[in-house]
This record gives sequence, structure tokens and C-alpha cells, in this order.
Amino acid sequence: MIVVNSIEELKIATANLKGSIGFVPTMGALHEGHLSLIKRARVECDTVIVSIFVNPTQFLEGEDLDKYPRKDEADKQICKLAKVDILFMPTIDMIYNRDELRVEAPAIRGFILEGSRRAGHFNGVLQIVMKLFNIISFNRPKEFKAYFGKKDAQQLALIEQMVRDYFLNVKIIPCDIVRDSDGLALSSRNVYLSKEERVKALSISRSLKRASKLIMQNILDKETIVKEMRGVMSEIEIEYIALVDREFREIESVEIKNSIILVASRVGGVRLIDNIWI
Ligand code: PAF
Repeated sequence: MIVVNSIEELKIATANLKGSIGFVPTMGALHEGHLSLIKRARVECDTVIVSIFVNPTQFLEGEDLDKYPRKDEADKQICKLAKVDILFMPTIDMIYNRDELRVEAPAIRGFILEGSRRAGHFNGVLQIVMKLFNIISFNRPKEFKAYFGKKDAQQLALIEQMVRDYFLNVKIIPCDIVRDSDGLALSSRNVYLSKEERVKALSISRSLKRASKLIMQNILDKETIVKEMRGVMSEIEIEYIALVDREFREIESVEIKNSIILVASRVGGVRLIDNIWI
């Protein structure tokens, strides 16, 4: 594995690559969720490139940018063991210019749910992802795939839309959510949870399981599902429970194979999101 710290070095490192590139963008503090994306890219692509960049533009004022977990040395080891070919770790100065052109999230899909709680967050995500796609594919690989987790379902939908709307030459590969054995969806933010908070946080995945049980019994209406889920999560602060189709339009009733149920909540000071795809 080579570790590359500048865009110029990255261009050189990718200049003579043959075959496909599998790209996994991350903000570091790698866990099994990231590893599952890397493993899939390793199986499906000739060259695997991972980026680690804690992107300041997707954090709003007062969010956890300064205390976002940073584990560069451990992350390098994880990537090496996972047989990553190139690890790209740029600095903020290399990525951002002053008064630069902006990519903006769409006015509706980008500003509902996560976008309404974190207004501007998706602008920052799309900005950095666009830049990373351009940097990584600078030498026009034969095939270019990028791997994203379904846990950040709205982010995934918006990145897919950006690829469509801007005619980008990259194939987005959505990957399943990875959970701990107790059901908690993996997230770099889970490290902030105390033992007691973690126990409470388990009600999130339990509520989603409850929802899928109801759906298996053919109970598909949003009102009943949300009411039951609220009951399961009675001990935590729920920001929202939402039912959307795969295009991220809010729906009143589950459509089998075309729905996502999403939860955002706060446990202690920690904001957690989770979802299931129906
Ligand atoms: O999902 C993430 O970790 C980030 O939003 C991403 C896609 C790496 C962009 O900074």
C-alpha cells in the first residue's frame, strides 16, 4: 500500500493503472462498516483507493468537527491489512480554495430529514465527493466505482442524483449496513456512547426490527408503524421517524421493495441515525 498526501502524488500514483478503480471515501476512524466497503471493492476492482479526509464543510457550526475521532495510524494499519492499494490523505488546504464554486444539494431532497436538521450539511458532502471523484479518476480509469453505505441513506441518494445530474462517469455501489452483534449500526460516533447510553441506543435497531415484523404481517401504514416504533424507543429522544421511497419522497404507506424507514435520534449527547430498506 502507498500512502499519498497530495493531489499531485495521487495523479502520479494513478497514471499507469490498468483496469478498474474501486474508491471508498471516508472520514477515518475506520470500523467494520468501512471495512465491508473496502472488502467489496477489493473483490470487485483491480485497484482499491481509500481516502481519509475529515471534511470541514459538511460539519455545521457547533457540530463535532474538532472532536471528531481521528485515528490515522490505526486507520493506515487497517487499510494495509485490507490490501488497499492507495490511501489518500490530503490536507484541508489542498482540497479547498477561498471563495470557490459550490455544488449545492437539491432544494427539496437535500433539505428534508437530515438536511432540515443539518441545513447545509449535504452541500458540504456533495462538494467534497465531487472533488474526490475528480481527483481519483483524474487519469480516466477504464471503470470507476465508488462504494457508499446504506446507513447514510439520504447521502447515498443525493450522491446518486449528483452522478445523474452532472453526468459523472462513476458507478455508485450501495452497500448494506453493518451492525454490531447487539444490533447497533456501526458508526464512528458510537465511541461517544457511555455503557448506559449504548444500551438505550439499542432501541433504535429494535424499533426497526419491530417495523419489519409489522410489515411482514402486512401492516403497511405509516401511522401504525411509527406509533409502534415510538413505543420501542420511548427512552430516547427521537428527532424523526420517516418513511420514504427509494427516490426519497415521503410516503404514507410502505411499498415493498421501494421503501426506506429512517430514524434519527439523540442518546445522551450523541446523534445516531439508522434505517431499513424494505
Ligand atoms: O460518509 C462519510 O463518511 C462522508 O460523508 C464522506 C462521504 C466520506 C464525505 O466526506
